[in-house]
Amino acid sequence: MKNSRRDFLKAGALGAAGLAAGGVAAEATGQLDKLRPLKILVLGGTGFIGPHMVSEALRRGHAVTLFNRGRTDRQLFPDLETIIGDRDGGLDGLKGRRWDAVIDNSGYVPRHVQDSTRLLSGNTDFYLYISTISTYASFATPNDEDSPLATIDDETIEEVTGPTYGPLKALCEKRARAEIDADRLAILRPTYICGPGDHTDRFTYWPVRTAQGGEMIWPGGPSYPTQIIDVRDLANFTIDCVEKTITGTYNTVTPAGSYTMGDLLADSQAVTASSVDAIWVDEAFVARAQEQNPEQNRGIFPIWHALSGDTAAVSSISGARARAAGLQNRPVRETIRDLMRWWQTLPAERTAVLKAGMSSAFEAELIALWKQQNG
Ligand SMILES: NC(=O)c1ccc[n+]([C@@H]2O[C@H](COP(=O)([O-])OP(=O)(O)OC[C@H]3O[C@@H](n4cnc5c(N)ncnc54)[C@H](OP(=O)(O)O)[C@@H]3O)[C@@H](O)[C@H]2O)c1
Repeated sequence: MKNSRRDFLKAGALGAAGLAAGGVAAEATGQLDKLRPLKILVLGGTGFIGPHMVSEALRRGHAVTLFNRGRTDRQLFPDLETIIGDRDGGLDGLKGRRWDAVIDNSGYVPRHVQDSTRLLSGNTDFYLYISTISTYASFATPNDEDSPLATIDDETIEEVTGPTYGPLKALCEKRARAEIDADRLAILRPTYICGPGDHTDRFTYWPVRTAQGGEMIWPGGPSYPTQIIDVRDLANFTIDCVEKTITGTYNTVTPAGSYTMGDLLADSQAVTASSVDAIWVDEAFVARAQEQNPEQNRGIFPIWHALSGDTAAVSSISGARARAAGLQNRPVRETIRDLMRWWQTLPAERTAVLKAGMSSAFEAELIALWKQQNG
């Protein structure tokens, strides 16, 4: 039944009263119980994306408990209750406790997700699992949430590597669905998560390298698409899901086709007030460069994918369902601006060597080779 205008006004007034009392600014969803501050358990909570979710939940007046091993950024939230434990067989601290919602952003191993969902199913109204777009079986054509998922022959494998990460996350989803009813479960599938706090340097490479100026290699061409999700947009949508009981599976990405490598170059130059001499190299050259890459553990063209074969549509994932449910994407230029502000606060030893992208020596080598081959 649709809400009447009276119901809407009533809910609005309650919302305002809740805000004045430091409560939650819930929308008129008709779920008046959600106007109260919620008790949220975050599995993880430190690291990269967790702190943004925790901060957004606290900003909206909710009470947050963290569960982690106490290894990462221990001092980040000294005022919050932290239950120390390991998802690998160490969930005892969660027993006998109740939360309105659980946000699971540290589940990589199916057994761990099965254990936590099984244990918490009776102790929470809502469970949100952070998955990934890497769950899809193929990227040859654009995926939506109903596309086939990757599988793994041996489902007992627990080692998370490049090839097993996606299939294991797909299995994690499956285990979560087996334990939590669909009307209490949300699964979010982010693509590359970017913004302040990103410890991978994959997106960061592009503006940071651009800021250095000079000749710079760019892959493919300016019209090649790329897709990200700003960590703050993901956090906002996560807490929206919790507050409004938004269930189901959602790709969390910038709109397909809305952003290109050329845009990334232009925004990086604008934000860093720099100018590079961009050398766009074609896919064949990129492929050879990747083969010859002396730094095999680094992605030398991070967040970029060839528009051919099985990567053709990595950057064309549909985010329509999440946007219809309320996901809002800020302009990528804003992500770059805030990322660079954060980057400048880091100690010199952290920023001296990027963890992704190519070294200046290898880039110089590639530029020389490109010029030699292309006049
Ligand atoms: N980064 C991306 O671009 C990206 C893209 C798509 C999806 N994702 C998903 O995003 C999620 C989080 O990513 P992130 O980069 O924020 O991770 P992260 O920085 O590694 O943080 C992981 C958090 O989980 C805790 N944790 C790790 N292992 C644990 C264990 N065995 N038991 C208990 N707590 C544990 C860590 O704290 P302690 O070390 O103290 O235990 C930390 O709080 C993952 O599910 C990932 O698959 C990431």
